[in-house]
Amino acid sequence: MPEISERLNGFTESVIRKMTRIANKYDAINLSQGFPDFDPPKEIKEALIKVAEEGPHQYEITWGSQKLREALSKKQTKFMGIPIDPNKEIVVTCGSTEAMMVSMMTVCNPGDKVVVFSPFYENYGADAILCGADPIYVPLNPPHFNFDKEELENAFKQNPKAIILCNPSNPTGKVFTLEELQFIADLAKKYDTFVITDEVYEHIVMKPHKHQYMAAIPGMFERTISCSSLSKTYAITGWRIGYVIAPEHIIENAKKVHDFLTVGAAAPLQAAVLAGLNLPDEYYESLRELYTQKRELFLNGLDEAGLKYTKPDGAYYVMVDISEFTEGTDMEFCEWLAKEVGVAAVPGSSFFKEDVNNFIRFHFAKKDDTLIEAVRRLKTLKEKVRNRKA
Ligand SMILES: Cc1ncc(COP(=O)(O)O)c(C=O)c1O
Repeated sequence: MPEISERLNGFTESVIRKMTRIANKYDAINLSQGFPDFDPPKEIKEALIKVAEEGPHQYEITWGSQKLREALSKKQTKFMGIPIDPNKEIVVTCGSTEAMMVSMMTVCNPGDKVVVFSPFYENYGADAILCGADPIYVPLNPPHFNFDKEELENAFKQNPKAIILCNPSNPTGKVFTLEELQFIADLAKKYDTFVITDEVYEHIVMKPHKHQYMAAIPGMFERTISCSSLSKTYAITGWRIGYVIAPEHIIENAKKVHDFLTVGAAAPLQAAVLAGLNLPDEYYESLRELYTQKRELFLNGLDEAGLKYTKPDGAYYVMVDISEFTEGTDMEFCEWLAKEVGVAAVPGSSFFKEDVNNFIRFHFAKKDDTLIEAVRRLKTLKEKVRNRKA
């Protein structure tokens, strides 16, 4: 038999998706894969019903329906504070997942280097392999997940084509400060590098922090490829709608990659999601409040359970330090936790390039009742660990 592509040798199965299967196996509360267990806004659901009757049901314009690009341009122009041309500077994709892949394939040649902060969202490693790029990892150092400026500049000195910036960050919950973004922007200019952002949590930032768009930093629009998605903003992770925003000459090429990869995002869903984009500004404020409240509920629970963590400022994840509970691997600990405590988390090592084994990641995009039950179970953890050791 012929052999399958060597490209796949560097691949492992997604640990996040694997943990969802383990959660199901043990009937554990799934705080591993980051998706809500609550519904999208009713306006979006009602629009979906209407679209089922009235269409569209056939292919849309490959780079996104005119109405969706116009609605996205209106919203992003407002939030980003820079004008975005709906006809020249946006491609609608199948989630930020495709947006990131399209961006990487649009700017990288095989053998190009790409700077990636570690810990990182696991797709970036696979994206790099798929487009033949070589990642240069720069650590975000626990517990506060800050980077060392000199270390970052050393990575830029290796002539990378792009840096990937996940802000707010999954898995750490870090929200990059304006000063940090400015430092990255200055390096990108100095070493003539693209910045590919993944900003799927742009609207999930807890007060007093504020999301700053890299593309809006003076002089950065021309070298920033902004990827984002409607998955998290409207609790529709299954709809698979995202987008790339970039200058016209980049978008012209991104459109080609996107067209040949997927032809386009689902036409009926592009139509229905307009109801979300037309929601008033208060929606985004209430989303921020909702997640601030969920963070407090869950973190208070972690305090009561005696768990140590780094407080997230954005996104809906928290990294918990498990050093005192296990001498085994974080994967073994996560399996044990799902089975014996009934709560599923993601082993932190799946996000780190370095050999870091003492974190697990929970997410808190769940109904209050689900979080309260998860906390109740987590409060039994310490005793179960003691019994296990005895
Ligand atoms: C940082 C980050 N990027 C992208 C995604 C996937 O987004 P989408 O559903 O838009 O493909 C996720 C999902 O958890 C994520 O955390």
